[in-house]
Amino acid sequence: MRAGHYMRGTPARRTPIIDTSLSRSDQFFSELETAFGNGSLVKLGLRAYDGTDVALRSIDIKPVIIKRQPQLSFTWHYKTRDVVKNHPWDEALLELKGLVGIEFNLAQMATTAADWSLDFQGKSPRLKQLPPTQTAPVSLAHDRAKVRPIPAGGSIWMRELGVTDKDGKVLPTAQDKFRQINRYVEILGPLLKAIPAGRLSKVVDMGAGKGYLTFAVADYLANTLQSGARTVGVELRPDLVDLCNGIAAKSGLGNLSFVQGSIDAFDGTGASVLIALHACDTATDDAIAKGIAAGAELIVVAPCCHKQIRREIETANAPTPLDYLLKHGIFVERQAEMVTDGIRALILEYFGYSTKVFEFISDVHTPKNVLIVGTRSGRGRYPAILTKVAEAKAMFGIRRHYLEDATGL
Ligand SMILES: C[S@@+](CC[C@H](N)C(=O)[O-])C[C@H]1O[C@@H](n2cnc3c(N)ncnc32)[C@H](O)[C@@H]1O
Repeated sequence: MRAGHYMRGTPARRTPIIDTSLSRSDQFFSELETAFGNGSLVKLGLRAYDGTDVALRSIDIKPVIIKRQPQLSFTWHYKTRDVVKNHPWDEALLELKGLVGIEFNLAQMATTAADWSLDFQGKSPRLKQLPPTQTAPVSLAHDRAKVRPIPAGGSIWMRELGVTDKDGKVLPTAQDKFRQINRYVEILGPLLKAIPAGRLSKVVDMGAGKGYLTFAVADYLANTLQSGARTVGVELRPDLVDLCNGIAAKSGLGNLSFVQGSIDAFDGTGASVLIALHACDTATDDAIAKGIAAGAELIVVAPCCHKQIRREIETANAPTPLDYLLKHGIFVERQAEMVTDGIRALILEYFGYSTKVFEFISDVHTPKNVLIVGTRSGRGRYPAILTKVAEAKAMFGIRRHYLEDATGL
């Protein structure tokens, strides 16, 4: 056993049995304190992990300003994810003293005056000072950059889906996708958190496609909520299902799987959350119907095209007071979208869901940016709502809304 170390496998963070490294560690921490205090600290990296957490790899630490206070931001790199934690100086120092030379055998610090390394890998600890690799102070303003709920670095699935490069940096061509994934998790996260743990057991994503958002939900459930809930992606295309199952296996997301099949034929029994993002036309209705049939706690859909109701409006014979609008194609399209989704929300309410309809991402990124969120608030049924549906249909000359049939109304 090396000086100042436990044998591998012993619990971390006890006082080292033999510690010949005090003076060198003290000197290193004194340089760190000075650099943090005078703003010359660039970064600090903890490497050569020798602790008991099999998933932990390394930690990167950098100075940041939070609420006008200088702090240290720790990015803990695990096998499949990164976790960011910010600490004021005293707290950070305490944390570092429990890590350097105890769990990590190498600490590398860059300041604008010098680079330092404190190495515990030899017979005795070595402290080295080298000329600085960076002489310009770091911009702390830059470090105020938004902390994303699903960070890019360390995510195997984002790398495999082509969102990030091998170093975990978001590719220029995938910036929109990265923002969309995180925006979606920002919205969905609080809704998932609000479901009592015992009632959150299965999330079904209908029309999962290449799985970006399915992976995002599974990642959030496993790594942020520490939930054992399963996530299932349902997708027509077998090539996408095979691709996504392969990436799920590589990513260590054991509770995520993809199945090939059509939404209307899928057995949604037991789904506590039902999601469908940009599933085509009436596939969105099939997905909502599956969620209602399962009694899902939460139904979240971003509709795609609205062809069924558009056709109904276009072929309606009855003259309506809306003629002046409906003779223009663009207005028919917009009306069809609002009427389709408005009636979807009404039918959800009939079945006991509170609904919200809102834009979830700027229309600069996609025009298909409306989200319908249904949260189960009762058991339904409310006949007055069906009267409203009938009135809405009559106004636009609509005979049937597909969701009426899909839910057996
Ligand atoms: C526009 S993509 C959206 C993919 C993903 N939800 C997203 O937002 O990134 C729609 C996907 O739904 C699938 N899809 C459409 N209708 C379906 C159905 N009835 N059953 C299963 N999958 C369907 C398509 O194959 C396609 O991959």
